[in-house]
Amino acid sequence: MATALVMESTGTLRESHGRGMNVMSEEYIFPADLPEIDRLNLQHNLWKRAMKGNCSVPADELDAVFAKQKEPAILDLGRGTGIWCKEMAEAYPEARVVGVDLVDSVPAGMPSNCTRGDITQGLSSFRNQFDLVHVRLVIVHIKGDAAKEAAIGQAIACLRPGGIIVISTYDESYASSSRQFLSPARDDEDNSNRSWCTRYLAEAFGRSGECVVGDFTQKCLVNNVAIDKKSIRSDSFYIPVGWDGGDGTYGGVTGEMSLRQTYALFETCKPSLISKGVPQKTIDEWERKAEEEIKDPRKRLFHVVRSIWGRKL
Ligand SMILES: C[S@@+](CC[C@H](N)C(=O)[O-])C[C@H]1O[C@@H](n2cnc3c(N)ncnc32)[C@H](O)[C@@H]1O
Repeated sequence: MATALVMESTGTLRESHGRGMNVMSEEYIFPADLPEIDRLNLQHNLWKRAMKGNCSVPADELDAVFAKQKEPAILDLGRGTGIWCKEMAEAYPEARVVGVDLVDSVPAGMPSNCTRGDITQGLSSFRNQFDLVHVRLVIVHIKGDAAKEAAIGQAIACLRPGGIIVISTYDESYASSSRQFLSPARDDEDNSNRSWCTRYLAEAFGRSGECVVGDFTQKCLVNNVAIDKKSIRSDSFYIPVGWDGGDGTYGGVTGEMSLRQTYALFETCKPSLISKGVPQKTIDEWERKAEEEIKDPRKRLFHVVRSIWGRKL
């Protein structure tokens, strides 16, 4: 059991004795401590740069949906540190913003139109109430495909007709400078077309290192009878790790943020690797190889973020 520091609504910290942030997952453990709060907030700011805003859904599409309601309503499912809810509540002061999570961590200074909902009773009390449901890096933590799809179904049920669900995640394979996904590096082989960064995440998450999370999410939206199939859209953001991306889309500052975020993610993964019985020496070796790969000018990497959205009929 990990002991974690949890940020309360006042911004003060208290000790909590839980398994960590991803209490739904038995596959891996993420800590819920101050470095993890910092990492999630850094990741939020990085994704915001990539998406040119808080949400990949175009602002005019959101505005059109919100304009139909006297009090638009936004639900952030698995709000984490609460930074996204806070910024959305500030951007849309006329909206009611509700953030729910299994872990009680909310930044200080939440606007009055932003509240914490109680997730412990399930999502049934939120049905048919929201114009935007935002689910970022949550579904991936739910164990098993059937449970993941059911969770997406429950999230869709929280929408009013015409409302938008947006699900964002990152692919667990890093991509080469030519945007080809790189499968996990193998011991004692030529890994020029594979990646130690992908290997590190694949070991921590106990998966094959395939870039399937976004594909799975898209399939769930397509399969859901409540979603207007014609409305489904997706976007991929290729974020350079430790370089400028080469085409002027992002630049060096984004590359540096992404580098810090990648190292912080590796740190976050360590409790999982340790719990799987990976010796510290092996973890250090994988980390060293991943860092060498990131610094290798012949092998520039992208971290790929995917966002999929659609409207309820
Ligand atoms: C990696 S964090 C992402 C947090 C936030 N969405 C963000 O993008 O910064 C995953 C969050 O999902 C929460 N979570 C996991 N399973 C959940 C569930 N079934 N219901 C609500 N929250 C959940 C965790 O407690 C954690 O805060």
